[in-house]
Amino acid sequence: MASDKPQQLSMNLPVIDLDVYLHQPRDSPQVREECAKAANALITYGALILHDSRVSGEDNDKFLDLLEDYFAQPDEQLRKDERPELSYQIGVTLENTEKPKCAVDESCLDVIQRLHPSQRPLDISGHQPDPKCRFFWRMAEAPPYETQFPGLNAPNVIPEDPSIKERWAPIMDKWGTCMKNAVSKLSEMTAVGLGLPAEYFSDAGRYGPHLLAPTASDLQKYGNKDTILAGFHTDLNFLTIHGRSRYPGLNIWARNTGDRIAVKIPPGNYLLVQAGKQLEYSTGGLIKAGYHEVVVNEMTIEMMEKRKREDRPLIRISSTLFWHLNSDFDLAPVPELAERARQVRAQQAKIGRDEGEEAQYPPIKVGHQVEGELKHIALMA
Ligand SMILES: [Fe+2]
Repeated sequence: MASDKPQQLSMNLPVIDLDVYLHQPRDSPQVREECAKAANALITYGALILHDSRVSGEDNDKFLDLLEDYFAQPDEQLRKDERPELSYQIGVTLENTEKPKCAVDESCLDVIQRLHPSQRPLDISGHQPDPKCRFFWRMAEAPPYETQFPGLNAPNVIPEDPSIKERWAPIMDKWGTCMKNAVSKLSEMTAVGLGLPAEYFSDAGRYGPHLLAPTASDLQKYGNKDTILAGFHTDLNFLTIHGRSRYPGLNIWARNTGDRIAVKIPPGNYLLVQAGKQLEYSTGGLIKAGYHEVVVNEMTIEMMEKRKREDRPLIRISSTLFWHLNSDFDLAPVPELAERARQVRAQQAKIGRDEGEEAQYPPIKVGHQVEGELKHIALMA
């Protein structure tokens, strides 16, 4: 049936319209309804599709082209942009460095066990490091106070090759700013939908070490079906936002159904957002960090065939930004939300959905929480 409204569900994920929040009065029923929808989507699925008219698909394309060119450079060239002394939190990380922490994490293995066998991720029990490269480009605003975590707030690395260098900062900043603005506004919608002041999270994340964090997978080398490009895991930051990747392969898991969902972001001004650990922490587990993996599937291979004909490097770039809370922020559950989390857990138990052992969220500085997670994934000694 024809409809003049955009479809409300994409891949069974709710579509949240940021335009409503940006253009309607804050206290209007439309805004309240859209914010409630955003919060509920994160509670139920840990993910949502975000529509934002300010976002342009063309900026994403320029970004993907630039990163394909960058990662097509020889390894010796890429190594110049590595910063192991900063735990790889800036510049490039080459393949086979980061390990999927789930492979040794009891609670995570328990999550996999509780999934229906048909919905489980590809097997990560070998604990091989991920064959993916990454670039971290900081999108942070310098805090007006002295931070306890200067290492997590280091200056950006600019690649040396002249043809890449001149395009680098403008393209990275433009696309990064687009995604950062979108996700920061979504944090406001989420706060409103959870009954908190609109700026509750956006203020707590204003000076966060946000990272534009494209990953690159060399499909020439790792293009066989069922290759794990990034093993099953959750993100350690607050919210992760993705633009469209050229190659399918990202799977996410919806918390309340346990179903694996193959991500297909609609073309145009759409983005995918997934909850990370800092949001889980802040809500006492009312919203849970969403699990995901990146694998080579049949659709990835179809796209490889197409890109080969276009004579472009066969590199899968993810268009990803990690939005963080400030490193010095004291992370702790909001008591009302922790109470709601207990209620949701009880309701889930009543309908026979076992959510496993109850997670604990003792107060901690965001910077310490991040350091703890980085040790887990072998990026920090
Ligand atoms: Fe991730």
